[in-house]
Amino acid sequence: MRVALLCGGRSSEHEVSRASAASVRAGLEQAGHEPVLIEIARDGRWSLDGEPVALRPGEPVAGAEVVFPVLHGPYGEDGTVQGLLETLGVPYVGAGVLASALCMDKAMFKALMAQAGIPQVDYEVLRRGDDLARAARLGMPVFVKPARLGSSVGISKVAAEAELERALELSWRHDPVALVEAFSPGMEVECSVIGNDEPLASQPGEVVAHAEWYDYEAKYTPGGMELVVPARLDEGVRERVRELAVDVYRLVGCSGFARVDFFVEDGTEVLVNELNTIPGFTATSGFPKLFEASGIPYPELLDRLLALALERFEAERGYRF
Ligand SMILES: Nc1ncnc2c1ncn2[C@@H]1O[C@H](COP(=O)(O)OP(=O)(O)O)[C@@H](O)[C@H]1O
Ligand SMILES: [Mg+2]
Repeated sequence: MRVALLCGGRSSEHEVSRASAASVRAGLEQAGHEPVLIEIARDGRWSLDGEPVALRPGEPVAGAEVVFPVLHGPYGEDGTVQGLLETLGVPYVGAGVLASALCMDKAMFKALMAQAGIPQVDYEVLRRGDDLARAARLGMPVFVKPARLGSSVGISKVAAEAELERALELSWRHDPVALVEAFSPGMEVECSVIGNDEPLASQPGEVVAHAEWYDYEAKYTPGGMELVVPARLDEGVRERVRELAVDVYRLVGCSGFARVDFFVEDGTEVLVNELNTIPGFTATSGFPKLFEASGIPYPELLDRLLALALERFEAERGYRF
């Protein structure tokens, strides 16, 4: 298949996306496909081999049968590019508009989890002008984070109330909506999921960050983190992680693939942290590594994602006017 990979993009995760796309390109070639790399510059311009890419509704993008947005963060993972692809009427890999937007927004995601009774850390949503005292009931330390970002950008761990305001100011610089979360001392666990109507969860892996928490540096410095697969948890707890991963995946209406992240407290209590609709996709990233350890090698994983994209496109054709 000819596959148009979208990479780069307007978010602060531009470089991460390029690294993911380089791996995906190699993997697709290995699987016998024909990838073409469309670069989205930081100013939003699309180009292919240095030439502008024309987008015409009803016509394939760059002659490709499927588009694969390998984009992380805002304007890539948040439903905006997915909306553009829907408007063009082309099949694409991964979650649709609503699931992408919901999962990018930590406040909306958490509200949905709360409504469905999915276990998570206690939290407050704060905007400028809100009474900061609302966060007091969460105790200390807390995590402060922008609602719609990734890669740990704009996130602080706050150890004392006097530091809260500064952390919120930093967060509000990135997003008008901030989350203040109770600190979880739990083990960080990741579980990958693929599928449309019948999602399949990988073995859960355990993140061992060589830092106080899994910050930007730990994420992107070689050797900054280690993924232990399977996570060192009792079999029953690992099953609980996989079940919850699928529950959350279905709840938000994901398709294609995602990585669901957890905290597991005292080796028993499983809390959902977040769901990434376009997780890191280099050959050494968590998402493919977890499936590799579950018996699905990288090129096969890509093959399946293309098939799932076409399957969803066909299935949804019936609902289109
Ligand atoms: N409530 C929390 N308790 C403990 N650690 C947290 C909490 N929230 C975030 N962290 C730490 O910060 C990292 C990044 O937070 P996360 O919510 O996953 O944001 P991002 O979307 O940037 O990955 C997590 O991997 C974890 O190490
Ligand atoms: Mg995260």
